[in-house]
Amino acid sequence: MKKTSFPWWQNKAAYQIYPKSFFDGSGDGIGDLPGVLSKLDYLKDLGVDILWLSPVYPSPMVDQGYDISDYYGVDPRFGTMEDLDALIQELKRREMYLVMDLVVSHCSDRHRWFQEAIRDPAGKYGQYFYLKPGRNGGPPNNWRAEFGGSCWDRLPGSDLYYFHTFAKEQPDLNWENPEVRREICDMVNWWLDKGVSGFRLDAIINLKKDLSFRDGPADSPDGTCAVSKMLPQTTEIGAFLNQLKQECFLPHDAFTVGEVYSITRERVSEFGGPEGYFSTLFDFAHFLADHRGVFWYQHKPFDFRSWRDAIFRSQENDSVFLANVLENHDRPRSPGIFLPEGDEGYEAVTAMAALSVLLRGIPFLYQGQEIGMRNGDFRTVEDFEDLNTHDQYRAARAAGLTEEEAMAVCRRHSRDNARTPMQWTGGGHAGFTTGTPWFPVNPNYRELNVEADAASARSVRGWYKRLLALRKDPEWEDALVRGGFRPAFREEAEIFAYWRTGEESGKRILVLCHYGRGTASVPFAEPFRVLMNNYDSLESREGRLRLDAYQVVVLACGAGEQEEV
Ligand code: GLC
Repeated sequence: MKKTSFPWWQNKAAYQIYPKSFFDGSGDGIGDLPGVLSKLDYLKDLGVDILWLSPVYPSPMVDQGYDISDYYGVDPRFGTMEDLDALIQELKRREMYLVMDLVVSHCSDRHRWFQEAIRDPAGKYGQYFYLKPGRNGGPPNNWRAEFGGSCWDRLPGSDLYYFHTFAKEQPDLNWENPEVRREICDMVNWWLDKGVSGFRLDAIINLKKDLSFRDGPADSPDGTCAVSKMLPQTTEIGAFLNQLKQECFLPHDAFTVGEVYSITRERVSEFGGPEGYFSTLFDFAHFLADHRGVFWYQHKPFDFRSWRDAIFRSQENDSVFLANVLENHDRPRSPGIFLPEGDEGYEAVTAMAALSVLLRGIPFLYQGQEIGMRNGDFRTVEDFEDLNTHDQYRAARAAGLTEEEAMAVCRRHSRDNARTPMQWTGGGHAGFTTGTPWFPVNPNYRELNVEADAASARSVRGWYKRLLALRKDPEWEDALVRGGFRPAFREEAEIFAYWRTGEESGKRILVLCHYGRGTASVPFAEPFRVLMNNYDSLESREGRLRLDAYQVVVLACGAGEQEEV
């Protein structure tokens, strides 16, 4: 029988590095490429195969590197192109892969293209951006940028306005222009030829605009409308994305993962999977489960059922092998958002880990997640560095929240929570740098760091390492990587459980978790063997399994699996 072939990346595990905060090799207080190089064995040992590196290109850092001024370089803060080449080589030597961040919906206002557009708006580079005349002495329409304010700003020295989805220092590139597309495809191929294995596609849904540039329905007291509201009108994005796929990704067998927040369920397979534009997409559905409006202050408190069911709904759509995440650099730390306050202990953190890593899809870990890092300690709004947080604070205050209330919102949701330096040791600055860190280390570093975790009998990293190894174990790979997904005990109030079943091997695995305080039990009479358990034991009596607070177990089930418990 002919064996189906699977993409090379399918059984791999990925890890996101936010370079500025990972490890400082030079002592200037900023994480860098030599720092990443020195930690490759640490990552290999954890079971990571693919490294996604957040941007290291030259950048004025208005949005921490997501404002790129040269797509072909390395910012001196992070090192040199030689360091990057060394990283590619050293990863290869370890059978690991590098995935770069591809930020092409916009560039930096310091990019040569934009500077040329300012110099001569009517010339070639004026066409690289969206330039429009104003309306009644103001911007061309009422769209509000992701980081606040109008999407339009005056092109310096001109009456024209330029368009930006994010900050005003991040002008959007005009993908309607074939020359822009040519430049980007050449650049993508340049990186792939260099040995990069793929890309994470930043804000990729924003590539296509509603070219009517009509006003949207106001959703803020100032009469503006969130720019994201126009996305449903931009369905013909396919031509742009297929060009990248056909000319760059397919010929290089690249691994690509899309950052796509706002598509409908029906469009998931248009974007990801064998017929889609990208290898896979991040599953953000459960990140959005608490969203009620565009502003953080409108979000609802954590609700277990909506969170779990959002994951179930994504998993039940088996047309795409999704990328599963609990954290990234745009989110708070997972214990601070997916758990009721006070429940962030070892059991809860390891339960979340198992539930996420063993889903159908490719697991992505974010730096520090493997030791259970927590949200930062921010006292006043000045403690935040992130421009998005400042904007959300202003919006909350403008909506009438007190300073204290607005701070509570930002503490919970700020992207800076995940951007504090990685905690390596209990020593000075958590061992992140010998200099002064660019951003303060979380004060909890003395107890919570890689060294202390390794020395503990309840090591979170040890648990992640076992999970990643189990997923790849030849005995379970058919079920845990390629196998199907089916929710279990869905009607139970605090149970998060699912089956993973291998088609070829017939192996069946139940991931079973009591996501709550106290105890819970479920009826279960099958023979089973415990593969993993975040407690020392599992009580099975009278056809029921009894689970402790945040207990998670991974059970191999079926006639061949029997053990005494
Ligand atoms: C993506 C990035 C985020 C950045 C934004 C604009 O969402 O993940 O960090 O601010 O794009 O580039």
